[in-house]
Amino acid sequence: MTPPQLTEAEALELLAQHYGLTGQLVALPGERDRNFQLCLASGEKNTFKVVNAEVPLESLKTEIRAMQHLNSELGSLVPNPLADQVGRFISEGSLQNGSACWLRLQSWQPGIPLAEFRPHTTELFHSVGHLMGRVATSLSTLTVPDPHPELPWHPNQASQIVEEGLSLVTDPLLKNFLEQALRLYDRYGRPLERDLPRSLIQNDANDYNVLVHGGLEGPPELSLIDFGDMVVSWTCAEAAVTLAYTLLGQIAPWKALQATLGGFSQARPLSLQEAEFVWPMALMRLGVSIVMAAKQIQEQPENEYLLISQQPIRELLQRLNALSLEEGIARSRFACGHSPIHRKVSLETILEKQMFFPVMGQALTPDNTLLLPLGIESPTSDWLSGDVEEQSARIQQAIESAQKIFALGLYDEIRLCYTAPEFQQDLESRTVHLGLDVFGLAGTPIFAPLDGTFVTVHDNAQEQDYGPTLMLQHEDLNGEKFFTLYGHLDPECLELWQPGDFVQAGTRIARIGASPRNGNWPPHLHLQVIGHRMGWETDFPGVALPSEQSFWKQLSPNPYRLLGIQEQSWVEPEGLPQDLLARRLHIMGRNLSLSYKEPLTILRGEGVYLIDSLGRRFVDCVNNVAHVGHCHPRVVEAQRKQSSLLNTNTRYLHPELVRYAERLCGLFPDPLNVCFLVCTGSEANELALRLAQAHTQAQGMVVVDVGYHGHTKSLIDLSPYKHNGPGGKGAPDWVRTTPMPDTYRGVYREHHPDPGSAYGEKVIEHAESLAKSETGLAGFICESILSCGGQIVLPENYLQTAYAGVRRLGGLCIADEVQVGFGRVGKTFWGFELQGVVPDIVTLGKPIGNGHPLAAVITTAEIAEAFANGMEYFNTFGGNPVSAAVGNAVLDVIEEENLQKHALTLGNYLLERWKGMSKQCPALGQVRGEGLFLGMEFVADPAQRTPCAARATYVVERMKAQGFLLSTDGPDHNVIKFKPPLVLPESEAERLCSNLEQILQEVPLQLA
Ligand SMILES: Cc1ncc(COP(=O)(O)O)c(C=O)c1O
Repeated sequence: MTPPQLTEAEALELLAQHYGLTGQLVALPGERDRNFQLCLASGEKNTFKVVNAEVPLESLKTEIRAMQHLNSELGSLVPNPLADQVGRFISEGSLQNGSACWLRLQSWQPGIPLAEFRPHTTELFHSVGHLMGRVATSLSTLTVPDPHPELPWHPNQASQIVEEGLSLVTDPLLKNFLEQALRLYDRYGRPLERDLPRSLIQNDANDYNVLVHGGLEGPPELSLIDFGDMVVSWTCAEAAVTLAYTLLGQIAPWKALQATLGGFSQARPLSLQEAEFVWPMALMRLGVSIVMAAKQIQEQPENEYLLISQQPIRELLQRLNALSLEEGIARSRFACGHSPIHRKVSLETILEKQMFFPVMGQALTPDNTLLLPLGIESPTSDWLSGDVEEQSARIQQAIESAQKIFALGLYDEIRLCYTAPEFQQDLESRTVHLGLDVFGLAGTPIFAPLDGTFVTVHDNAQEQDYGPTLMLQHEDLNGEKFFTLYGHLDPECLELWQPGDFVQAGTRIARIGASPRNGNWPPHLHLQVIGHRMGWETDFPGVALPSEQSFWKQLSPNPYRLLGIQEQSWVEPEGLPQDLLARRLHIMGRNLSLSYKEPLTILRGEGVYLIDSLGRRFVDCVNNVAHVGHCHPRVVEAQRKQSSLLNTNTRYLHPELVRYAERLCGLFPDPLNVCFLVCTGSEANELALRLAQAHTQAQGMVVVDVGYHGHTKSLIDLSPYKHNGPGGKGAPDWVRTTPMPDTYRGVYREHHPDPGSAYGEKVIEHAESLAKSETGLAGFICESILSCGGQIVLPENYLQTAYAGVRRLGGLCIADEVQVGFGRVGKTFWGFELQGVVPDIVTLGKPIGNGHPLAAVITTAEIAEAFANGMEYFNTFGGNPVSAAVGNAVLDVIEEENLQKHALTLGNYLLERWKGMSKQCPALGQVRGEGLFLGMEFVADPAQRTPCAARATYVVERMKAQGFLLSTDGPDHNVIKFKPPLVLPESEAERLCSNLEQILQEVPLQLA
């Protein structure tokens, strides 16, 4: 049936005639109806539908009734039917060509089709599932006859249509899929058909019928249009149809399934039977679409679009076929809140109740077995990294020195040792260990725990895979099947057994294999119990994605009893406490903040990476403290070595300290030749203030707006970022605040002939007013690039003008280099050098100790002299030998790894890339910075440069989801700051750019 033919002018006439309305029309797509958007003079919008007269009136009436019903129950989630001038929701119209038609008007739904919305996230698909669960629940209370019993998309006839159309499909991938899907439907779907509850369903939640809007602040909002394919069918088919479409979306199929069915069943719980039915029915829906396309291709072989339209299905199948269609049954059951596999008695109970021959020939006990925790937070977790020979020797030595026979690696540990590409999946890495590892000498015999039949005898020979592997099928006490898997075996077992061979409990089935033949691991047995193979044949996952931990743990519970272990508590990894957040909030000051909507538990650092408790690796883009990389081995070793020799205060001579002080001062221009070592940036600035006040015998300071210099009482006074922020009391009378020299949003912008000097004059104005006041002028403090202010690079001539004026008035100039020093800015080693000035005092912090509490003040001999007024300067921890050793090591690494140059090259590259991106994305108003100290400023309106914090926060959260940690700053929180460890590799910078590029195109960021 084709849409009626009419012009826009004709449509306007019909509107005037039947509804008394006039306005602007915009044609909309439609398969069956001719649709228009109607914009009324009031600004209100409606949808006007001209429907083919062949559509039965009864089915249109059901449509109207369903929409009214949904509208009254669910509100604006669906369009509201509007009546004509005589109160009818369906009017009879006649077209100029003489044919009749039906006319309908309904409220307009905001948003764009799901197909065009980006990003497609699991949260979004959860919302789609939830929306359709609500629709199904609401429609199920309407009793109506089936409006479209003959519809080809009717779930009731899906399997028949696929069966009949199979012969039309020639593409081997599609054909093979249809055959498998039909088999699955016959086995799992068809037997349930008779008993499942039925009701009216919308039956068409495709990605053009689900509309999405919002999503910048809070989750996107959804609505549903098009009720022209409604049928009476199995209620759960609504979930299946929805799933068929979300599977074709942009995220991994199993994640789409978990999200869609999780959302659906939250709104409309699905029984176990319904949950099992949904997967094969979703495959049938995909099958109908393949068959229909095949029919059309046969009719119009020249129409290339028809082939292209099958591409998303082909891509999905390529991903699914690598797995197994059968796995979808378990996945659906689990997503709907049921156990993934069907068992009368749980596998855990069987493992507890049944007797087993111990797999290692003897029970593992604390007497013969050493526990070897390999989880992320364990100090021994690194034992499985580096050279395999070394790993093996380390483990064997530990076993021997503890006088044991075995070492046991634990179940449900989050491990970092799985580094091969096969373990990376969908932005995650498989880190959760699903079995137990028994480390022992190669050749150690392994026995069958129970009578069983081999189902797998296979060499999984890839690096870091199982190597030679056996899998046995057993029957438990109740006659139910389960499986045991043995990995990393001696290849001898591949000759000994064949699939189908039967063995009795206690038979020696294999030996522990040696590296590299065993998958290239230290000799050990990976032992796993498996409740259902879900179609996996020669192997089965031994480690799982953290996001799927509970699914896989139900399939593979802890197999400790197979090793004769009685006490589960002995072999349980300690794991992380679940209540860390609550405990932290309870025990620590409330105003210590946590980053991100969902805080991260970070347990490891490595170079540019931070690794969380689930083993997820994030690229740290905001930690300029870890200047030379988290846990740099050189720095760690220097610290360890000096800690083991001596750590005391500066009242003794120590060569490391003097050497460090000399090296540090050597990095500054004359006359900056004297240093004080302290522990934090705040201490450094506090001391700088005292030095300036001692030297000038005055108190007053000029500070830059939105600056932050530290957390002590007097530094809060010097920090407008704090004293003008929440809880602040404003500046005291000895502090004057000069505006940020911001050429993007400040008073003097990029078109001013010399904004730097103009802003510098402002500093002088404040300095003059202080000099005349009672407090006098002690000095001016300024960061060399404004950090809290929003990564603002000082305009040329700024410090030159300001310093000259301040000095003329007798004040000192302090450069706060706590954020930007030590080569980060690339062109120069210190940030102030970019401005061609020499300060009187420089303060250093953060990067100086790569995380060790070390900071410094560098000044002139003259100023230091004025401070030495007889009162001793003592600092218990400042300048201790460990700090000095760390400081020296950091300088070594900066030099040896050429980090300043790297910061320059990579920073310039990133800046160029981001400038390109800002041209494509008007919300990214400006990118700026020097070296690896960069910023991106987000706006709601590029002409007015109105700040937009929500867009910056959106990008931060989206980048976090892609594995990059960023954060925002600036007075309006609309600037993303970028200041990664300088060891950021080019490959990660590249990955960052490609993710950022995509995110900047996402719908919620676009300006209206
Ligand atoms: C520019 C600047 N100065 C000083 C400090 C204070 O350093 P700390 O936190 O080590 O006391 C900070 C801290 O963020 C800073 O950003």
